[in-house]
Amino acid sequence: MKTKTPRESTVEMTELVLPNDTNLLGNLLGGRLMHLIDVAGAMAAQRHCNRVVVTASIDSVDFRHPVKQGRAVILKAKVTWVGRTSMEVRVDVFSEDFLTGRQEFNSKAYLTFVAVDADGRPVEVCGLCPETDEEKQEYEDALKRRDERLKRRNTP
Ligand SMILES: CC(C)(COP(=O)(O)OP(=O)(O)OC[C@H]1O[C@@H](n2cnc3c(N)ncnc32)[C@H](O)[C@@H]1OP(=O)(O)O)[C@@H](O)C(=O)NCCC(=O)NCCS
Repeated sequence: MKTKTPRESTVEMTELVLPNDTNLLGNLLGGRLMHLIDVAGAMAAQRHCNRVVVTASIDSVDFRHPVKQGRAVILKAKVTWVGRTSMEVRVDVFSEDFLTGRQEFNSKAYLTFVAVDADGRPVEVCGLCPETDEEKQEYEDALKRRDERLKRRNTP
């Protein structure tokens, strides 16, 4: 099966924070941001495997700064590791103030997606060939993250 690079799966998604997306303080709701993270991650995974994917797991996410209404939230996603049918995707989240042009890092999340057939059964995905030193390190470290997830999955 063909091998792809993390670059080939890269997705960048920009959303304007509108009133409906915010809490009573006018900041982006955490649940809304989680939704955007899931969508951006799923698109990167689908771009890698050219299959329908489902979310198997989302690692913990810390929100470092509030994102105010009227700002942009920018999500950058790419595949960081693949198994037989599963893919780990990292999503980095930034906010942008249009009035100053300043961008701020907000959060990072790792998600695991599984490629499935029309009956929802896992199917094999193509391999991943990391290019940069950072991608190679992240690929190596992914095994530890995967172990933690599978331990969590098997804990009642
Ligand atoms: C994800 C899902 C397809 C896995 O199916 P399954 O029959 O349990 O299949 P397997 O146990 O063979 O797992 C398939 C792959 O997913 C991985 N996986 C499953 N659960 C995982 C988890 N919680 N974290 C990380 N990887 C996971 C397995 O390690 C395996 O990876 P590999 O093929 O790369 O080695 C199935 O559990 C499912 O459909 N879950 C619901 C998905 C969904 O609806 N998501 C939306 C939110 S509810």
